[in-house]
Amino acid sequence: MNFQLTDEQKAVRDAARDFARTELLPGVIERDREMKFPHEQIRQMGELGFLGMMASPEYGGSGMDTVSYVLAMEEIAKIDASAAVVMSVNNSLVCWGLEKFGTEEQKLKYLTKLATGEWIGSFCLSEPEAGSDATQQRTTAEDHGDYFLLNGTKNWITNGSTSKVHLVMAQTNPELGHRGITTFIVEADWEGVQIGAKEDKLGIRASDTTSIMYSDVKVPKENVLGGVGFGFKFAMKTLAGGRIGIAAQALGIASGAYELALAYSKEREAFGKPISQHQAIAFKLADMATDIEAARLLVLRAAQLKDAGEDYNAASAMAKVFASEVAMRTTVQAVQIHGGYGYVKEYHVERLMRDAKITEIYEGTSEIQRLVISREILKGKIYTTA
Ligand code: CAA
Repeated sequence: MNFQLTDEQKAVRDAARDFARTELLPGVIERDREMKFPHEQIRQMGELGFLGMMASPEYGGSGMDTVSYVLAMEEIAKIDASAAVVMSVNNSLVCWGLEKFGTEEQKLKYLTKLATGEWIGSFCLSEPEAGSDATQQRTTAEDHGDYFLLNGTKNWITNGSTSKVHLVMAQTNPELGHRGITTFIVEADWEGVQIGAKEDKLGIRASDTTSIMYSDVKVPKENVLGGVGFGFKFAMKTLAGGRIGIAAQALGIASGAYELALAYSKEREAFGKPISQHQAIAFKLADMATDIEAARLLVLRAAQLKDAGEDYNAASAMAKVFASEVAMRTTVQAVQIHGGYGYVKEYHVERLMRDAKITEIYEGTSEIQRLVISREILKGKIYTTA
């Protein structure tokens, strides 16, 4: 594979880096402490084209490739992982899902506003009792002729109270199991939609995570996305791409923590020299850099496969499981290198360590990624000669 970036890809990465440093860095500690959603920064990200990066220009998107998207995601996540998850869900799950499976009317009505960032979207699959086992949807949608009547509760919804459009998975025919699940486009201000309280989370605290309750919500038939009974496949296909975005977020968290630890280790002196000159610290830096480089190659590989129209199901799971575990161990080491300073908010690394944890959980836990990868191996689709 060729990991040489084009001039255009480098320009996107540099623009995201500049934006993150000038607009996201100021106030990032306060937003985390106060659980304050970065409304103004997200609006600016929409204007810069970061919220619909892969969507076609005819629907208001930036028309870029997945490689450019992961480069931008890494830069945003280095500074503000909360802003990065808003960007990831809107791009990979909502805009991509709508463009790939929506009707022309749905794209004109919804995608044009979501790809520009005028509206933010959410992906409503998880439920109180359907997390990893996403087939067990208890939310139901009954066919009433012109409309479906939606009832149920969704949990852990990223952009829960800020999204204007929800892509909601619901059971339309329980006898068919996962083949009876359907996706609906639901507007947040429709009657019967109720948003729960914001979760008080360990990390990504500035992002807005809520439950959402649907009580007798009338969803017009034209808001079925991808066809009745296609909802589970829709979720799986969309999440395969979403996992590339989360892998890039994890990579950003890791590389952000590494850069801070490297700079600190060159400045901080102990026993008569900068701590970077002590092998105990230098070896940690070597391990962190090696881990990050390997994670970056997996993220770029998954993005390139997607851009080439090849199967990226296992590649995205590999990128996500590896990058998220790298984010966790790198941020722990970054705190360790900072010593006592790493344990206080001012130095940023404690926040990155808290932010890293979610990347091992959402859009499929590390265990789910290993399940996806091992199934592809056992089906003979990857690593068949090993
Ligand atoms: N693409 C297309 N179809 C797929 C697929 C894929 N990647 N993966 C599975 N399917 C299809 C299968 O082919 C099968 O179809 P048929 O029955 O027609 O043959 C069907 O889906 C069921 O597949 P499985 O038998 O493999 O289903 P399973 O129940 O054994 O396991 C799973 C599936 C991989 C565990 C899945 O449930 C899963 O990914 N769980 C995790 C859910 C998840 O990631 N949730 C994240 C919530 S969203 C979120 O976090 C967003 C956010 O806000 C940040």
